[in-house]
Amino acid sequence: MLLLLARPDTEDYCPRPMILTHRPVISATGLYTPDESITNEELVESFNRFVDLHNEQNADAIAAGDVEPLHHSSVEFIEKASGIKARHVMTKEPILNPEVMSPRWDERPDEEISILAEIGVAAAKQALERAGRKPEDVDAVLCAASNMQRPYPAMAIEIQQALGIDGFGFDMNVACSSATFGIQTAADYIRAGNAKSVLVVSPEITSGHLNWRDRDSHFIFGDVATAVLVEDAAMAPADHWEILGTKLKTVFSNNIRNNFGFLNRAHPETADTPDKLFVQEGRKVFKEVVPMVAQMIIDEAERLQLDPAALRRMWLHQANAGMNRLIAHRVLGHEANEDESPTVLDTYGNTSSAGSIIAFHLNSEDLAANDTGLICSFGAGYSAGTVFVRKVA
Ligand code: COA
Repeated sequence: MLLLLARPDTEDYCPRPMILTHRPVISATGLYTPDESITNEELVESFNRFVDLHNEQNADAIAAGDVEPLHHSSVEFIEKASGIKARHVMTKEPILNPEVMSPRWDERPDEEISILAEIGVAAAKQALERAGRKPEDVDAVLCAASNMQRPYPAMAIEIQQALGIDGFGFDMNVACSSATFGIQTAADYIRAGNAKSVLVVSPEITSGHLNWRDRDSHFIFGDVATAVLVEDAAMAPADHWEILGTKLKTVFSNNIRNNFGFLNRAHPETADTPDKLFVQEGRKVFKEVVPMVAQMIIDEAERLQLDPAALRRMWLHQANAGMNRLIAHRVLGHEANEDESPTVLDTYGNTSSAGSIIAFHLNSEDLAANDTGLICSFGAGYSAGTVFVRKVA
């Protein structure tokens, strides 16, 4: 396919015809990080105040055995079990208020950009800027995230409109694997010649689905937005990442669930119960997902005729430091160091689909030409995605 790339109007500019290669690459990434952050110490202090309040208010019922007492959380447990030390959030104060324990902001009028689209746009702008790309050269926007603000109009179309992109956009939700599923979808558009430049945007306001009153999970998530610009190699900037192969996998599991949905109103008695937020059997997830993902990576490397042990870096999903240690060990054949498998969950928490993209965004510039690496996500569904890449510079 022959295409002309749009360029600023200059009198002496003569457009250069471009022959598409149908080979997808990552041209650039973008990251939006909320200013506010909650440390484990702050989180546990507020959670424990909530527990004390609850136990005081229910002292008689607890004494009578009618209500279970709640138990304190602990900084040491959180750090040891998960590796998380802090998380960014869109609004800190209401989350830490034991009377609220949820994000709070004013509802925006329909004429104003929604908060999820707004942070997606911030990340997308950075990706476009880094690629030296103009919105008019982009064909599509995929909003790939684990929670959408509303069913329609699509967040992707709102982001498309805010950026001034012609073409099309749609939302897709594959929970923690949304971004890698989005990258494969975008790569397939490039491979098929249906698009030459696709933005995969992952705004994750996970503080809205996290049950901040649940001791087992209140420390897990953080808010962020990422963007990945997937393009035909013919139009990519000199510095880019060739996509060597993508692989997706889903296996049904009830171990991570969120029953929130538009049919909740059909049963108002349970419309607000804790299962309408994130719930998981963390230990089962850990045990089942580690071998599944490690094997998937090894099998896909073999299909691509890559030696997994020779991967220069793995940008793994950021849910649990222990899971990443085990997966990286199985893939590389030795204990991975921070350089081989960088961690961002210590300061970002689990940011659902954005985690592996943050790790890639913050830890990829130092790689040399021809270095190979792996972006890998895993989570609810179960769902898992691998994107093997090679640095081109
Ligand atoms: N503070 C102190 N103690 C706590 C606690 C808290 N906040 N939360 C749980 N505990 C206690 C439990 O009550 C339990 O006590 P017991 O042994 O007396 O019964 C003990 O700590 C261990 O709890 P468990 O839930 O088995 O912890 P864990 O070691 O499995 O760690 C996770 C919990 C969630 C950090 C871990 O399972 C995990 O990260 N799993 C993977 C999750 C994942 O990837 N999910 C994908 C989501 S997108």
